[in-house]
Amino acid sequence: MYAERVLSGMRPTGSLHLGHYHGVLKNWLRLQHQHPCLFFVADWHALTTQYDEPQGIVGASWDMIIDWLAAGVDPARATLFIQSQVPEHAELHLLLSMMAPLGWLERVPTYKDQQEKLESKDLSTYGFLGYPLLQSADILIYRADKVPVGEDQVPHIEFSREVARRFNHLYGREPGFEEKAREAVRRLGSKRARSFTQLRTHFQQNGDQAAIARAHALLDEVPGLAHADRERLCGHLEGTGKMILVEPGALLTEASRMPGLDGQKMSKSYGNTITLREDAASVTRKLRRMPTDPARVHRDDPGNPDVCPVWQLHQVYSDEACQAWVQQGCRSAGIGCLECKQPVIDGILAEQAPMRERAQPYLDDPRLVREIIADGNRKARQLARETMRDVRAAMGLDYS
Ligand code: TRP
Ligand code: SF4
Repeated sequence: MYAERVLSGMRPTGSLHLGHYHGVLKNWLRLQHQHPCLFFVADWHALTTQYDEPQGIVGASWDMIIDWLAAGVDPARATLFIQSQVPEHAELHLLLSMMAPLGWLERVPTYKDQQEKLESKDLSTYGFLGYPLLQSADILIYRADKVPVGEDQVPHIEFSREVARRFNHLYGREPGFEEKAREAVRRLGSKRARSFTQLRTHFQQNGDQAAIARAHALLDEVPGLAHADRERLCGHLEGTGKMILVEPGALLTEASRMPGLDGQKMSKSYGNTITLREDAASVTRKLRRMPTDPARVHRDDPGNPDVCPVWQLHQVYSDEACQAWVQQGCRSAGIGCLECKQPVIDGILAEQAPMRERAQPYLDDPRLVREIIADGNRKARQLARETMRDVRAAMGLDYS
């Protein structure tokens, strides 16, 4: 039931570039065919560092969503939403803040790193310290077990696991839990109950993760298994009490090797990017101006692709025959640099063409984007509300 839900968020940075496409977005495109996915704009997260200049956030959010759609994120498969439009995230953040140890937050590596990196800004704020906990709320509220992130975010996912574990430990034990769990096992019927108990023993004695997976699969097949019973059984299985919040796992997104216009990694802060939907004239101009092997001053000087940023782009965009043509032609001064750049220009334009095409209807009628997001917000809220009902009750706030 809770299994296999993917969730990821992106801060609204405005127009995305080809580095985002080759790194994060292609990964999302693959995942949306494999699992139920939720992708959201982390606009509150933008405020944790940008609280003094909030003006651009809304515009950047819409631009970024259009880029997701342009890249092929499919709203019929994935739920797309905006964090601040699902205020339950804030409620969960607040409730988790009651039990999240301050020391855990202070030890998250990005806390000190970012403060040092963004030295010009005063980041000794409550919100900035709590930012990994807000991220935990983002994840835990959907009981998402798979969170695709880059390497820098892995400590945040680990932090979220610890928060979930602590929560379940503190609030997951209802009075009479063991007895209720045993009754729930009995209700599985004798055959299933026997398998379930064996798998539980396997896990508890040998830490056998496969046994956990098989036990979950077994529960998936029980017709009409009550929500409360399932929670008890999952808790009983892992020895944690009721599993109210699911411990998420990171799905590491391989770092994009997408080189920028200067041979460094493509990044907005290096000013070496090509945006997803950049117009053809601008792409051509940027490529033509790209630096090449600095030793190749004249057309008849032989060059060395190993020190040329254009060659790095050939490795992304060109087939073997073309790459052989570059190697041979460059080293023998058989081709000129502009000639060499043309297949890369063509490759980038060909990659962008379908993106531009997919974006056009949304640019023509922005209401379409609003509708997709309104629909996504609604779906996300539905899921978030279900979790909050359990969380409130577990924390002693059930007034119904
Ligand atoms: N912190 C992430 C970043 O800066 C964005 C983010 C916020 C996120 N909440 C999330 C990513 C939840 C994954 C899951 O890139
Ligand atoms: Fe670079 Fe190509 Fe010029 Fe060689 S021919 S220096 S690989 S642009």
